[in-house]
Amino acid sequence: MKTLTIQLKERSYPIYIGKGLLSQIQLIESHLKQKHVAIVTNKTLAPLYLDRLINFLHQHKIKVFSIILPDGETYKNQDSLHLIYDALLKEKCERNTTLIALGGGVIGDITGYAAATYLRGIPFIQIPTTLLSQVDSSVGGKTGINHSLGKNMIGAFYQPQCVIADIESLKTLPQREFSAGMAEVIKYGLIRDYDFFEWLEKNIDGLMQQDASLLIEAIERSCQNKADVVEMDEHESGVRATLNLGHTFGHAIENAMGYGVWLHGEAVAIGIMMAAHLSRLMQWLTDDEYHRIFNLLQKVNLPIDPPIISLERYLALMSMDKKVVNGKIRLVLQKGIGDSVITSDYDEKYLRATLQVKKF
Ligand SMILES: NC(=O)c1ccc[n+]([C@@H]2O[C@H](COP(=O)([O-])OP(=O)(O)OC[C@H]3O[C@@H](n4cnc5c(N)ncnc54)[C@H](O)[C@@H]3O)[C@@H](O)[C@H]2O)c1
Ligand SMILES: [Zn+2]
Repeated sequence: MKTLTIQLKERSYPIYIGKGLLSQIQLIESHLKQKHVAIVTNKTLAPLYLDRLINFLHQHKIKVFSIILPDGETYKNQDSLHLIYDALLKEKCERNTTLIALGGGVIGDITGYAAATYLRGIPFIQIPTTLLSQVDSSVGGKTGINHSLGKNMIGAFYQPQCVIADIESLKTLPQREFSAGMAEVIKYGLIRDYDFFEWLEKNIDGLMQQDASLLIEAIERSCQNKADVVEMDEHESGVRATLNLGHTFGHAIENAMGYGVWLHGEAVAIGIMMAAHLSRLMQWLTDDEYHRIFNLLQKVNLPIDPPIISLERYLALMSMDKKVVNGKIRLVLQKGIGDSVITSDYDEKYLRATLQVKKF
């Protein structure tokens, strides 16, 4: 098992990464203030992991009850949040009850927000079960729900007591979801870690076969990169925004195609290619670097061909993405592999050309 610590003063916490961690209840137990927990999960994960986790907790004499939500991004909303509050109140949960999020980013975000707000804040533990949530959403303390007028519009920064990433849970994850998570892994190499990018190029085949030690290393290095960025800028006033590489393009694609048609990571992969394309036009990225990015994304089975969306629609959607300064969209762009900038200092005609590319 590997342990990383997110250093945020009194809000610091460990991330445990390894194989078979779900049965190692002492990891959970050592962070409990009271032997009372509520597990939030969904209908897909409950039959796979919930009974096992409850049994392990019972063996350690920990009182536990569970809240099972419907599965899907559409349920990351007020209704689900209230189901959690209702259950916590009915079970008379106090300040020292710990909430456990057992699931992907949807469950993690909503459970974290419930924990941030119930009784003005109770402890919570993340047990992320998708690759995306293990390398991204469970780290950094962003929690929240969607509003009908916008994604992730209601939320709070709230850090967990610990994160337990068990790679064994990835065995039941659909391949497409695994690939989508890899887009975020590759992102870390691109924005700030050339060595990691090179390591990914070397080990991509083994990673796609879910070789345990490679997977643990990839998750650890991803979390370390995210931790470094979050430690510098917990509330996203600066450098944390580089974590959005490919996301302004990607969010526009998700939105234009209809949420759920493209997985988030798939849309981000196209967004990463768009950022690379624009960076190459600006001569901030060489042809060789550009092709390396393309090749790696392709090996992960991520879609590389952009969907057909009109230029006007792209620009309209991208302008909605909270990142417009003086009428110009701020983008995360590459300055070589392993370095990135947040800038609106690019040539507008190159952005337009990039948005009209039919094939990279
Ligand atoms: N808080 C953050 O910093 C942050 C960062 C990135 C993304 N997010 C959020 O995360 C969410 C996306 O997370 P996600 O990609 O994990 O999606 P998800 O939580 O919807 O999970 C994807 C699918 O896989 C299923 N699943 C999860 N684990 C499984 C397993 N082990 N075996 C079989 N099936 C499994 C889920 O039930 C779901 O159907 C979005 O809501 C996004 O806004 C948050
Ligand atoms: Zn993302």
